[in-house]
Amino acid sequence: MNQLLQCKNMSKYYSKIPILQNISFHMRSGEHFTIVGPSGCGKTTLLRCLAGLEAISEGEICLKQKSIVNLKPEERSVVLMFQDSLLFPHLTVIENVTYGLKRRKWKKKERVRKAEQMLEKVKLLQLKNAFPHELSGGQKQRVSLARALVLKPDLLLLDEPFSSLDAALRESLRGEVKELLTEENITSLFITHDRDEAIEMGDRLAVMNNGTFIQIGEPYEVVTNPSSIESAKIIGEGLALEEGFIPLHKVTAVPMEQKPSEKDYVFVQGKVKAVTVKNNIPCYRVTFDQGSILVAADRKLEAGQNVLLFAKREDMKKYKKQDEQWRRVQ
Ligand SMILES: Nc1ncnc2c1ncn2[C@@H]1O[C@H](COP(=O)(O)OP(=O)(O)OP(=O)(O)O)[C@@H](O)[C@H]1O
Ligand SMILES: [Mg+2]
Repeated sequence: MNQLLQCKNMSKYYSKIPILQNISFHMRSGEHFTIVGPSGCGKTTLLRCLAGLEAISEGEICLKQKSIVNLKPEERSVVLMFQDSLLFPHLTVIENVTYGLKRRKWKKKERVRKAEQMLEKVKLLQLKNAFPHELSGGQKQRVSLARALVLKPDLLLLDEPFSSLDAALRESLRGEVKELLTEENITSLFITHDRDEAIEMGDRLAVMNNGTFIQIGEPYEVVTNPSSIESAKIIGEGLALEEGFIPLHKVTAVPMEQKPSEKDYVFVQGKVKAVTVKNNIPCYRVTFDQGSILVAADRKLEAGQNVLLFAKREDMKKYKKQDEQWRRVQ
């Protein structure tokens, strides 16, 4: 695959306060890339810089090997889709979808044909004459996606597009959207707070913290093998401890009195907060000093019970502090 986007040493300051720091990454054409990171770490700012809504302070952004840093938003083949659908309330669905094509001076017949095709793909053709206030949240986001896709951008940026929707709708929509983006051969950069969403939507995933990427990799690798303790706390699927990381499937919860030997096992004290079900499998939500974890309910425990979370010492991926960062040792 060809390289579509290259960001080199990109930084952004607001009144001398660094918001983005020295970000370098690339995206291949057709790739789906997700970014996950805590609130305020700079995700939206990064997308706004790529879309040209903010100027960068340092560094370079190239799209198809050409610098775009001095181009206005409308001169970049980049479309940003927001958390709220931001449809024009006084325009119908089809008028919203054709709006961008009209600005690009497409003939009416052509733009209506193109918009109808896209509305069919997002399963909303039957609502083409409705107004935004007549649509549900999920339908509005579909219109907003259709509006972005008819423009055939080289790069589609999605800023938590499903975060205002309920969990079930979000889950079904993200599968559909990924399929559609792949079918349309759209390269996408997708921001989310939701770990499952980040894993499912991305061919690669970046973990962001304090204005920079602290790990980039394939989702499964990042989640089961975070490269630093910071990354483990943000995205790791397992027990993130100061001394190291233990993948979830190696962790067990047992009653306090069944304490294993310290020589062979690592353990932390926790408390069963809730008995729940994930993917039809009974689980316990166990909280401990550094966070909380969902473990398989392979023995009888009660909500409120004090427990030990433990794993074999050999299953822990240890970190050590290097260059002010905790990094994987093995
Ligand atoms: N126009 C601005 N002027 C000054 N500071 C700003 C401006 N826009 C954003 N910031 C600051 O930049 C930081 C990053 O904000 P940003 O919106 O990029 O975070 P985010 O990762 O998208 O967070 P969230 O997950 O809550 O959406 C925040 O500390 C924010 O206060
Ligand atoms: Mg944001």
